[in-house]
Amino acid sequence: MDFIFLQELGYIVAAILFIFGLKMLSKEDTAARGNLVSSVGMLIAVLVTLIKVVDPYLILLAMIIGAGIGSLFALKVKMTSIPEMVALFNGFGGLSSFFLAWSQFINQSNVSFILILTYMTVFIGGVTFSGSLIAFFKLSEILKGSSNLLNNISRWFLVFICFFVLIAIGQVILSSAGLLAINFELIQITFIAFLIASLLAGLAFVVPIGGGDMPVVISLLNSLSGIAAALAGVLLSNTALIVAGCLVGASGLVLTLIMAKSMNRDLYNIFFVGYVSDSNSEEEVTGETKPILAEDTYLIMEAARSVLIVPGYGMAVAQAQHVVKELGDLLEENGCEVSYGIHPVAGRMPGHMNVLLAEANVSYDNLLEPKDVNPKMETIDVVVVIGANDVVNPSATEQPGSPIYGMPIIETHRAKTVIVLKRSMSSGFAGVQNPLFFKENTRMLFGDAKESIAKLVSEFKE
Ligand code: TAP
Repeated sequence: MDFIFLQELGYIVAAILFIFGLKMLSKEDTAARGNLVSSVGMLIAVLVTLIKVVDPYLILLAMIIGAGIGSLFALKVKMTSIPEMVALFNGFGGLSSFFLAWSQFINQSNVSFILILTYMTVFIGGVTFSGSLIAFFKLSEILKGSSNLLNNISRWFLVFICFFVLIAIGQVILSSAGLLAINFELIQITFIAFLIASLLAGLAFVVPIGGGDMPVVISLLNSLSGIAAALAGVLLSNTALIVAGCLVGASGLVLTLIMAKSMNRDLYNIFFVGYVSDSNSEEEVTGETKPILAEDTYLIMEAARSVLIVPGYGMAVAQAQHVVKELGDLLEENGCEVSYGIHPVAGRMPGHMNVLLAEANVSYDNLLEPKDVNPKMETIDVVVVIGANDVVNPSATEQPGSPIYGMPIIETHRAKTVIVLKRSMSSGFAGVQNPLFFKENTRMLFGDAKESIAKLVSEFKE
């Protein structure tokens, strides 16, 4: 049996499974199977890789331990913490490419092309790892916002890039002159400097980026982890790694562009200027809020002919999706037209609201994008905002000084009546005040979203 042939065949099967798996992820009813298909592809890729390994038992052991830890985390993680987990996964993907390239340097070759590839893999892998750790800390709110001091670091990021390019060019010149073999110790020291600088560049890259831009950063880091893996694949001549890396790299990049577009943010601004909240330019929001009780909310909703439900991160925190669906069904039984307004960056990960509502069996056909609901907003009797804040903040359209100015929103403030469900007057993820809460047509139903909706449901049932 030709083992090399078997291995290449395994890689091709794995690549086909990755592509089909990815395609299946784009539809709600095939997504779970798509995940499984891609995982099987990865298992095949790992197993056939072991064919070339002389002593595969250590790797098998590492695989079992890794799979055990990964499964444990995936089973235990709360839905609201999935983005943090994705950030860590990206980071570890980058770290493995980083280590892989490092090991290739130790088995050094003085072929310039291989050296350049090694540097690129270390650089992108290192930036992905440390950048993802910062993204993880920011998403878990251990590290908050951005400051002028930290924004200075973004300038340092550019300095670091120049530093790396210089070292890399120096290395290539040295190696092509045959000096690598003569003065390997010196080259090793510069390489270690390169490793450290790559990690620092990741910190400098993500630390100044704050609040609302984090979704774009996560998807870019995801893309970078793929690019690092593809480069590592070229270093190792591993077809499966190249294909998987390219798929992750390309899809992550497309997602980055889609996310930036849906937040109306310029990529240059996100990555190099930072998300600085200019407190001088943000107008103070003042006025009186009009709190409402669940009993009175019921009376308004009972009389409504059309209701738009706009969920946000608070619905995920409260795990209110099932009672929301129950309320939607009761409204429909009452002869009301019910739809759901879904903002692309509502919640904390792409498709967060879609996933939660699908879990509660809300039909995909009832989920509408901002461009579909905004034009008919004036005709909607009641909008129920469930734990959403930034994605319905009118400052994005009305206040040029606001840090979120220009971001597309669901323009709930233009509906006849708006009921906002939240626990307090605190701001959303971007940390900016929301004038919606003070508008004439807005009523605030304070409390945990799940409890408030459960009260509405019981009012309907009575
Ligand atoms: P946010 O602006 O984060 O607001 C969520 C609101 O939910 C808060 O104002 C909070 O107010 C309320 N809340 C929390 N727990 C609640 C509970 N148990 N019951 C009722 N309300 C509760 O959410 P959003 O409108 O969905 O916007 C998402 C933000 O996150 C955007 O700025 C976006 O850029 C950012 N982001 C998005 C992603 C992706 S990819 N979706 C990833 C990272 C960041 P109280 O504390 O007063 O209750």
